[in-house]
Amino acid sequence: LATGNSGVFEILDFPTIEDSRGDLTFIEASTHLPFRIARVYFLHNVPSASDRGGHAHRALQQVILPLAGSFTVDLDDGSQRASFSMNNPRQGLLLGSMVWRELRGFTKNSICLVLASQPYDEEDYIRDYQQFSLEARRLR
Ligand code: TYD
Repeated sequence: LATGNSGVFEILDFPTIEDSRGDLTFIEASTHLPFRIARVYFLHNVPSASDRGGHAHRALQQVILPLAGSFTVDLDDGSQRASFSMNNPRQGLLLGSMVWRELRGFTKNSICLVLASQPYDEEDYIRDYQQFSLEARRLR
């Protein structure tokens, strides 16, 4: 996995140990992620009509996991668009820097876990799509 690559998005499959007691999925930053985890946050109690995201990050990388329930993630790297239906807690969606994301269609009691490469920093956000397009084009 290329670290810090702008415009990258891909599905990561995490190892799962299954036995009669249930499934155990694990993530080791040094093995399964292209970054060290600096922050963990989760979205929960999200109304089904909510749209989340609606921004990109200049440097931050994240992995988004549907710990419970499902939701849809729409992505745009400035030239390509893709949509992922997230419903498998063994799979995470890796988002490199400079990816515009929108999250929608949260089912009742769904939980979206996010592993992030940096602490929260509002300066790292691009919340205006035109500005994002401009900066993404400059990187190409
Ligand atoms: P935002 O990133 O816009 O939410 P989302 O992308 O999920 O729709 O963040 C919403 C608010 O929460 C905003 O005021 C910033 C704040 N926030 C933090 O204080 N720390 C964090 O780690 C995150 C992700 C957000």
